[in-house]
Formats: sequence, structure tokens, C-alpha cells
Amino acid sequence: PSVMSQGVVMETCTCTAPVNMAVIKYWGKRHKDLVLPLNSSISATLDQKQLRTKTTVAISPSFEDDRLWLNGIEERVDTVRIQNLLAELRQRSIEQQSCPQEWFSWKLHVCSENNFPTAAGLASSAAGYACLAFSLAVLYRLRGDISDIARRGSGSACRSMYGGFVIWDKGTKADGTDSIARQLYPETHWPELHILILVVSDQKKHTCSTAGMEVTVETSSLMKQRIRLVPDRIKEMTSAIEKRDFHKFAELTMKDSNQLHAVCLDSYPPISYMTDVSRQIVHMVHEYNKLKGQNKVAYTFDAGPNACLYLIEEDVAEVVSLVTHFFPPIGPTEEFYTGLPTGSVALDQFQVIASQINLPKQPGAIKYVIHTKPGPGPCVLTKKVDSLLDISGHPKY
Ligand code: DP6
Repeated sequence: PSVMSQGVVMETCTCTAPVNMAVIKYWGKRHKDLVLPLNSSISATLDQKQLRTKTTVAISPSFEDDRLWLNGIEERVDTVRIQNLLAELRQRSIEQQSCPQEWFSWKLHVCSENNFPTAAGLASSAAGYACLAFSLAVLYRLRGDISDIARRGSGSACRSMYGGFVIWDKGTKADGTDSIARQLYPETHWPELHILILVVSDQKKHTCSTAGMEVTVETSSLMKQRIRLVPDRIKEMTSAIEKRDFHKFAELTMKDSNQLHAVCLDSYPPISYMTDVSRQIVHMVHEYNKLKGQNKVAYTFDAGPNACLYLIEEDVAEVVSLVTHFFPPIGPTEEFYTGLPTGSVALDQFQVIASQINLPKQPGAIKYVIHTKPGPGPCVLTKKVDSLLDISGHPKY
């Protein structure tokens, strides 16, 4: 909406965008600046009730500079990613003649915050860039797909532009115009599918994805093999999601995560994102699936030690009990869980399972657990109270 403060006009827009968790991973670029991937990838968009970024953007002739506040701290706007994203957006807006010309000379204020602690160590760049691209596109009144604009900020951000199950087609064109995300199925397609994010207590600074994938592409010979294999995996994964075949979905998800971390280790120098705790989670999941005689849980890991578990709703209570049994919280249990309610499980039934899994107990190794499920894509918030900027265009806090 337009806001008038002391006769000065300001246009603002507030939106939210979700986090996504890949089941077929994006790892490796064929073009660095355009952020074009070597392979297509598939993810589920997570519910914004548990994890989302909220962003308010404003333009006004009264602003002297482009400014950006992230989680309460002013950050630089002159990074390559932000500048590329803005340039692409303005270009699109000029082509579509979507907004008044003078807006391009007006400066921009951006304020953004997450509804989950930054300290959780969850990759928030996908939701962050998706939210920035989406709110600016709404502000500049752009039409059509804008996932390629979000992609310029961070590759995985393009998948956060849609809800449910999303594919990022790698595309073949040199200019990247066909490297876009699209929805495979809405979040309502598989309502029983739930997600547990296990935030591992780990203070280590990890190689960022951008730098990590560069080393992999340059040095890993295993990566060449991966690139040949992914297209078939994409087809298999699409079909497993279509059929809601959890056993197959889980197998493909775990194998693809393992392959990502294998090409990381095959990089030179090697990159290792998973820790002993991550590997113990992997072991626990495989033991559990073996006991059950089929895949009941799937793990997947991004560029860090946190595990993301996909599972069916009816198994959540038992798996949460298992996680708590092997990785008991040191602090209060209420703070250990966030998100959707998990329900409870019969103690004797659970003890039989736990006793058959050979794993040492590790108190405090998992910081907390977020229970969520697939959810919708970015949203526009229209209420004035939702804005993160005040009428002068500065952060409210
Ligand atoms: C392991 O999207 O963070 O999470 O494009 O360089 O910003 P840039 O990388 P980014 O990489 C994400 C990698 C991943 C896998 C995935 O989300 O597909």
C-alpha cells in the first residue's frame, strides 16, 4: 500500500516465504553468476507456521540510500547476490512496464526477520532470498514466474517460491531463462507426510554451500558420475511422490543425501558437513527401518550437521520418543520440542524397540526438534500491524 507521511509518499509491501528441504539435492553450478545448476533438484516446502522469513520492503523518494536490516542488524546491500537480484527485478519490471518509471530512481528499505532463532543454524538463505524476491515482485507489480529472480540470490531460494513438492528444472539455455522452479504437487497431495528437524548442537563454522560446491565441481570425479545419475533419480522421485510411495521416497531421499555427502568427501580438500551425531542419527534411522521391515523414516542432510527426517504422521510419536531416548535433552523438555504436537506412545512398546537398537545415549547432542509438515508458498500480508517498517520507513524495533 501507499503511505503518506508529512506529504512524502512511500510504497510498501510485507510478505512471508517458507524454508524448503531438498530430497534430490542441488549441488554444483554450471554458471556461477547466473546461478545455474548442474542438475535438477526436488524439495518439499515446509509449513510457515514453524519456519518462515517475513520481509517488508518500501520505496520512497525520501530515502537517501538502499538499506537492509536482517534480524535486527543492518547489513550491506552491495553484495553481488542482492545487486544481481535487484538488477534482474528492475529489468523485468521495465520489460513489463509494471510500475511508474520514477520508482526506479527511488531508494529501497528492506527489513527482514525469521520466526526461528538464527542460532538454530538452519539455512535460512532460501527463505530469505525467496521472501526478498517475492515482496519486491509484489511491490513492483510483476507478473508471471519470478523463481528465476529468487534464484539469483541463492539457488535453492527458487524452490521456496512454491508450496508443496517443488522441482527446480536445471534448464538448458545459456541465459538461464528456463532454469526455474515449478510445483509438482500442492501440500495437500500427501497430508500424512511430516517432517522432524533435529538441530544438532554444534558450534563449528562450516564451508558455505557456494564455496563447497565449487570445490566439488572442480575436483571430484565422483561428481561426474552423480551428474549422470540424477536425471533418473528425478524421474523416480517424481513418481514416488505422485504415488505417495513412502518406502521408495525414503530410499531415494537417503541415497541422494548420502551421495551429496560422498561427493563432498571426494572433493579435494575434502568437505565434511556431517558429524558423529549426524552419523548416529543415520544409524538410528536404518536400525529402526530394519526392525519395522520397511522404510518408516528418511533422513536428509544439507551443508551442515542438522538432520531433517521425513516420516508418516502416525509414526511421529514413536520416532520422537526414540530421538529423546538416545539424545535426551539436558534442559527442560518443553524447550526441546517446538512445532506441531507429537502425541505419545505406549512405553512398553517403545522400550522393546529402543532395546533392539545398538546406540550409546548422548545427552545434549541434539539441541532441539522442530515438528512440521509441507506447507504453502509465499504469502502477502495486508494488515498494517504486519509491517516491519514504521511510517518513516525504518524498523519498528
Ligand atoms: C545442500 O542454494 O545455499 O542445501 O546457490 O550458492 O546460494 P547457492 O547455494 P544454496 O545451496 C543449497 C545446497 C543444499 C542442497 C539443496 O538445497 O538442494
